Amino acid sequence: MRHWTLLGEAPIPGTERSLLLFRGKDDFSIKIAGGHELMNTRKHGSEDALGSLPCQRLNQPKTARVLIGGLGMGFTLAAVLQAVGPQAEVTVAELIPEVVEWNRGPLGDCSGRPLDDPRTRVHVGDVAKLLRRQRACFDVIALDVDNGPEGLTKSSNNWLYSAPGIAAAQDALRPGGIVAYWSAGPDQGFHDRLRQCGFLVEETTVHAHGNKGPRHTIWLASVM
Ligand SMILES: C[S@@+](CC[C@H](N)C(=O)[O-])C[C@H]1O[C@@H](n2cnc3c(N)ncnc32)[C@H](O)[C@@H]1O
Repeated sequence: MRHWTLLGEAPIPGTERSLLLFRGKDDFSIKIAGGHELMNTRKHGSEDALGSLPCQRLNQPKTARVLIGGLGMGFTLAAVLQAVGPQAEVTVAELIPEVVEWNRGPLGDCSGRPLDDPRTRVHVGDVAKLLRRQRACFDVIALDVDNGPEGLTKSSNNWLYSAPGIAAAQDALRPGGIVAYWSAGPDQGFHDRLRQCGFLVEETTVHAHGNKGPRHTIWLASVM
């Protein structure tokens, strides 16, 4: 049996549950207390793709304005920073303050310490609240706050995948912008909803790790 050392615990705001950070022999794991693993530092192929795929499609990646929700283990943030230029600005919204601390501390080296990059801005709070306030601000919005359209961490995250949430993301995009959504699996209803909201939708699947393991779904939604 694998040995895990508990490094930290963080309550999930608005719920009775908490996140736990564990160190293994050569990896870290974030689990929902009493539930399953949310993230592991050995498996981040689809998190990387969530950041790189939309940025690679931009006409002006050098000066891109990007919003990421949430931080997790920092892999999507690191992939975005690699794909955009020196004048880019990348805001990462993270609900749980301890997750930001863990990334500034023991987790940081796993993703190359993207929080230390001068292009990174950290917003501690709900990405949904941030989105509601923004108009025509971002070239890319990359959302990975939960298991996908069927929330796991926080049921209020479902709003982000509803028609009003999709419309808010659309309003927050600059012309030519792209919203990228991560999900543990396919969801035809969500795909259809993106199209009904006026998005042109590209759906792709990416392995969790290299060319092995489960495939995760990424939707790239752009305005027609
Ligand atoms: C699956 S992880 C993200 C993984 C990330 N893509 C990476 O590269 O490691 C989900 C993260 O979103 C955060 N989160 C959950 N709901 C949120 C919300 N409404 N706003 C901002 N962050 C949220 C969680 O605390 C967690 O850190």
